[in-house]
Amino acid sequence: MFADLKHIQEQALKEIENAATVEELDKLKVKYLSRKGLLPEYFKNIKSVSTQERPQFGKALNKLKADITREADNKSRQLKKKPILACGDIDFTADGIKTRLGKEHIINQTIDNTCAIFEKMGFEVVEGPEVETEFNNFTGLNIPLNHPSRDAFDTFYLKTQERLLLRSHTSPVQIRVMKNCAPPLAVVVPGKVYRPDATDASHSFMFHQIEGFVVSTDIRFSDLKGVLDLFAKELFGPDIKMRFRPHFFPFTEPSAEVDISCIICSSKKGHCSVCGGKGWLEVLGAGMIHPNVFKHVGYPAGRYRGFAFGMGIERIAMLKCGIGDIRLFFENDLRFLEQF
Ligand code: PHE
Repeated sequence: MFADLKHIQEQALKEIENAATVEELDKLKVKYLSRKGLLPEYFKNIKSVSTQERPQFGKALNKLKADITREADNKSRQLKKKPILACGDIDFTADGIKTRLGKEHIINQTIDNTCAIFEKMGFEVVEGPEVETEFNNFTGLNIPLNHPSRDAFDTFYLKTQERLLLRSHTSPVQIRVMKNCAPPLAVVVPGKVYRPDATDASHSFMFHQIEGFVVSTDIRFSDLKGVLDLFAKELFGPDIKMRFRPHFFPFTEPSAEVDISCIICSSKKGHCSVCGGKGWLEVLGAGMIHPNVFKHVGYPAGRYRGFAFGMGIERIAMLKCGIGDIRLFFENDLRFLEQF
């Protein structure tokens, strides 16, 4: 009788192992475990085993039933699983986790596009620190002590012994580059700048600028005009016109404010909400670098000439993309950012 059990065990486990479908497995369960199956038959006949051997036989029979049940359950679980297409525990048919792909912020896109235009003209991109010395931000740039922009309320000063501040424009990088490099220079400088302005639709205490400057021995105002004209046409389209209005900056002489023809109404001067019917949009400040700036960086008097310009990135992005409120750039609302 014991030999029978061993034989049944071997046979049953082999058949379970080989079962290829759930149906086959169900048949095996019926064959061995159901009321009319093989094992219950042995339970019924237990009386024919000698009283001495009966407890041991009962135990072996129970163990066999448990073994067959367990193996059949395991096999059934295996057969019900989805097919696995590769080795190991990886189920390639399982649903994936969707990741949301980010993208470059519209401000960085605008910086990259703008820099790329100047790089094609041979400019090099340079960055400078946002915490600056008072010399680089003002004195070196010929901005006098009594100039209103040096006022503590017009600039973010740091509580340091040396008068450090958050730069109010990207022009101090002119000083940094000129102090360290000899001309010829053609450089553009993108970066953040800070002014303690109250925030509204067109003001932010932090915004971005791109500074550009060229220094060599024979640079003229016409070079400035040519470079900016090419830039405006590349960025806004070939029909864009430019206009230079006389202006004042302490670090350039002569200085100009530069307008482009309105990209919305093409200077037709109707009731355009973007240019206010003027037909022109102010986009940047520019001029020929003041001799005092060259003096402050240690260039020999009279040897070099150069031009510089500076523009607000937000303004460019707002004009190009038709954005009406500067605050949108910094609120991190994906419904806004995903549009660009
Ligand atoms: N730094 C000036 C500003 O922030 C812009 C500028 C740069 C003007 C270079 C002239 C030359 O307004």
